Amino acid sequence: MLRSIIGRRSFHSAGARYIQAGDRLPSVQVQRKSPADVVNVRELFENANKAVLFGVPGAFTPGCSKTHLPGYIKKAEELKKKNVDLIACVSHNDAFVMNAWGDSVQNNDAVSLLADFKGELAEALDLSFDATGALGNRRYKRFAAIIEKGVVKQLFVEPDNTGLNVSLVENVEKHL
Ligand code: BEZ
Repeated sequence: MLRSIIGRRSFHSAGARYIQAGDRLPSVQVQRKSPADVVNVRELFENANKAVLFGVPGAFTPGCSKTHLPGYIKKAEELKKKNVDLIACVSHNDAFVMNAWGDSVQNNDAVSLLADFKGELAEALDLSFDATGALGNRRYKRFAAIIEKGVVKQLFVEPDNTGLNVSLVENVEKHL
């Protein structure tokens, strides 16, 4: 049903990843600073000439807190020099958790934290996996995407869902 939100590509072969290079981001709402501060992901990214979006299994998990998010925070200025005008991180968590997480790693708005509080974006992108055993529900596969004016140009998804390789800033910056 959520795929009808996207309004693009009415079919795809079984097992194919929905979001791919060439696709527009779906029109789905996420939270930013609070539950009242919502933004449409498609509109947000269409207003950025070049953006990097990365997704993580969860705020405060070890890999996300020690490596994934801090890597993008440290290199935010370098990415801006490569004309990236939006760096965003999305997780299936609420805005309060996302912002407490950002504070814990001194994000200082270097990375825009997007709270996919209902997991709708993850489902629309087809980038979630069953993390029930560790985190209680479906969560984002760890991924990163280079996006220009709301269209995905390159997508890097960790093949094992949670690894810290292709979605890290050190890899993504090579492709900018
Ligand atoms: C992590 O360390 O990032 C992680 C831990 C458990 C489940 C998923 C991710």
